[in-house]
Amino acid sequence: MDLIVARNREDLVKARGGGEVALVPTMGALHEGHRSLMRLARSRADQVVVSVFVNPLQFGPNEDFSRYPRTFDSDLDVCRAEGVDVVFHPSVDDMYLPDRQVSLLAGRMGEIVEGESRPGHFDGVLTVVLKLFNLVQPSVAVFGQKDAQQLALIRRMVADLDVPVEIVGAPTVREHDGLALSSRNRYLSEDDRQVALALSRALRAGEAERRPGAIREAAREVLAAAGPRLDLDYVVLVDPATFSEVGEEHAGEAVLAVAARIGATRLIDNVILNLNPA
Ligand code: PAF
Repeated sequence: MDLIVARNREDLVKARGGGEVALVPTMGALHEGHRSLMRLARSRADQVVVSVFVNPLQFGPNEDFSRYPRTFDSDLDVCRAEGVDVVFHPSVDDMYLPDRQVSLLAGRMGEIVEGESRPGHFDGVLTVVLKLFNLVQPSVAVFGQKDAQQLALIRRMVADLDVPVEIVGAPTVREHDGLALSSRNRYLSEDDRQVALALSRALRAGEAERRPGAIREAAREVLAAAGPRLDLDYVVLVDPATFSEVGEEHAGEAVLAVAARIGATRLIDNVILNLNPA
């Protein structure tokens, strides 16, 4: 079957097949990480829909909405190569009514960690994701673990609002040297890229420790040693479901998450640890 490109909600309705649908929401600039989400989606449903929409609601006034990479032709090639059935690529006017009033609030969990640095970001993410769920009506939706707080909040939204969609998280895909794949990596110069490697090195240093305090400290040390071109935003060790900091006696899963700015590019990364205090 040829790939169908739905540019508005009417096209989308026509493109919907009869069986189960798996949705992969994206903002385009697709890379190997997105491809892994598409493969997971393919294994879970009859029809795979990929949305490509750079959502203005989730960008702050000083963020990179206007320069965010838009590479729709090559995105289509990626989707074709992965056997995607439908690409939903609406315009901003198609997604949002001009007199739009109602949107979602991510609550306290949307105001901490990444949400503290990006006020309103998660409100915008949840609003567009719920709209995409309503439009595409998937039974399953696949998101990357790379955006761990986004994934946790989407799970929270689905639980809090009884949204009938199963949320599947997919592991972060990395370059050979550890850099987590991100659409924003294309902003990095070769020198910036070398500095950015400190993020994944910091996570590995944290992984080598056993106690929360030592884990945070090991990660911080690596990031501090990266020099002045890396402007550290945060290092946190948090509960994967709530994103609140874990205490020294925490047992079980925890997410070590880091964010830093390298030049004009802000990058995030994380790893899931399993802590077993003796
Ligand atoms: O992760 C992303 O690319 C975006 O935040 C998402 C989930 C597609 C919503 O715009």
